[in-house]
Amino acid sequence: MNDIKERLQNILGEALEQIKAETQDLEQIRVKYLGKKGDLTRVLRGMGSLSAEERPAVGQYANNVRADIEAALEKKKQQLKEYQLQKKLAEEKLDVTMPGEKFEIGHRHPLTLVRRELEDIFLGLGFSIAEGPEVEYDYYNFQALNIPPNHPARDTQDTFYITDKILLRSQTSPVQARVMEKQQPPIRIISPGRVYRSDDVDATHSPLFHQLEGLVVDTGITMGDLKGILELFAKTTFGEETKVRFRPHHFPFTEPSAEVDYSCFACHGKGCRLCKGEGWIEILGAGMVHPKVLSGCGIDPEVYSGFAFGFGIERIAMLKYHIDDMRLLYEDDMRFIGQF
Ligand code: PHE
Repeated sequence: MNDIKERLQNILGEALEQIKAETQDLEQIRVKYLGKKGDLTRVLRGMGSLSAEERPAVGQYANNVRADIEAALEKKKQQLKEYQLQKKLAEEKLDVTMPGEKFEIGHRHPLTLVRRELEDIFLGLGFSIAEGPEVEYDYYNFQALNIPPNHPARDTQDTFYITDKILLRSQTSPVQARVMEKQQPPIRIISPGRVYRSDDVDATHSPLFHQLEGLVVDTGITMGDLKGILELFAKTTFGEETKVRFRPHHFPFTEPSAEVDYSCFACHGKGCRLCKGEGWIEILGAGMVHPKVLSGCGIDPEVYSGFAFGFGIERIAMLKYHIDDMRLLYEDDMRFIGQF
């Protein structure tokens, strides 16, 4: 009997030892000691050799060993579970102090900023915004503007032709003709938009750029009105002290025509690097709408007169923001765009 007890004791000791050391598979230990073919069962089978008096005591002892092993297994199971949970929590810990992911916020392009500012000025003066197609008829881009085929003015605007009759507009002036065709005076519109010329890219040229056209047609419109509007535009955009100068020029669709300079806002007319020592900066083309253009669009030049002007939005943006290379405007580099 003592032999059996000793074996049971050894089993208990061994099992507890193994349970203590095990970190994963407790089931294998349970099977080894308590299973049908396990060590404990095997020992109990040997109980047949015991006398009837001895059997209950040994049986009781064996039951205690089984209960102890089961309890140890259960306890270890809970420990492992807890350990796994802690491990998982540690691994999946959310560090709320970690820096977040940065979302890049966009920024308005300097050309958009300038265009909107210009639009605001003219909307405030009662103008409305008119749009026209960028893929335009030769008729509107040239003929309706008193530039017939073979007219030398076509050479100064190196045009992308799509067919004989269709082109990429080289100026925003075709919008004038389109508006006048549809609408009798009073007309007061601006037309900002893209224009195209077959120029090589450099610091001051691009085959795609933007213009803003203005047109006013009504009774009694004079060059004084044109000057007043352009002076106001000059002061609002470049500062109160800006002066305006008209130089005689030629455009086929205006008569008389002028190139308009603004006094240099950097040196106030003294002459500096920006104005190349001139004291003046050329800003736009303008003039009184040619009677032929008016009548061609169905507006009676005996009753109505009007003025038109047009300028490059890039040029205004470059002057205003001191941008010395036009190419920067088309590269979409946020380091550049974000500065304005
Ligand atoms: N369309 C002319 C150009 O691109 C500018 C202009 C517009 C001149 C309106 C006079 C009147 O050069």
